[in-house]
Amino acid sequence: MKVVETERLILCRLSVGDAAFILELLNDPAFLRFVGDKGVRTLDDARRYLLSGPIASYQRHGFGLYLTKLKDGDISIGICGLLKRESLDDVDVGFAFLPPFRRQGYGFESASAVIGHGRAVLGLDRIVAVTQPDNVGSIHLLEKLGLHFERMVKVSDDGQECKLFVSHP
Ligand SMILES: CC(C)(COP(=O)(O)OP(=O)(O)OC[C@H]1O[C@@H](n2cnc3c(N)ncnc32)[C@H](O)[C@@H]1OP(=O)(O)O)[C@@H](O)C(=O)NCCC(=O)NCCS
Repeated sequence: MKVVETERLILCRLSVGDAAFILELLNDPAFLRFVGDKGVRTLDDARRYLLSGPIASYQRHGFGLYLTKLKDGDISIGICGLLKRESLDDVDVGFAFLPPFRRQGYGFESASAVIGHGRAVLGLDRIVAVTQPDNVGSIHLLEKLGLHFERMVKVSDDGQECKLFVSHP
């Protein structure tokens, strides 16, 4: 199911059929380092992650993380979308791409479209983002998207503080 489209990209809902791609993305060293270890090591783990994560989020909230594909060649390059975490009051935007597809503007293109969709279709006023303080690429992307650093927050049980960025319409 297509959710948003940009000049170069299509964002659609993830399904259990995307398990192989998710297995690769969630074990990318930068994903493990900056997003976290989801414990996904097999295709079955990936299917479980999809069902309990993004697919459960579509059912519960009407949004979630989306598969991001190049229109040219129908190639899956990453995930980008909206999350509602227990630990945050606001909906946050999240993204991760495989290494060959970074630094080509796909993060900006997909996240701009997701934020626009969040405002126009889902009626969200305030969209936030959380990132580790040393995730230079993510911080550059968030600032380019027009988000501003607000404060430090703890979003997981590991006690690590993340930077909270906010976006106002
Ligand atoms: C962070 C990430 C999503 C950025 O996506 P991307 O597609 O590479 O970002 P873009 O190409 O749209 O770049 C947006 C801006 O950030 C800058 N940027 C991106 N990565 C950068 C890096 N590693 N160092 C410095 N600047 C960086 C770009 O130069 C661009 O700014 P500019 O137009 O002024 O040059 C990507 O590196 C990634 O998937 N990382 C691993 C997972 C991750 O960390 N996710 C975020 C968790 S909060």
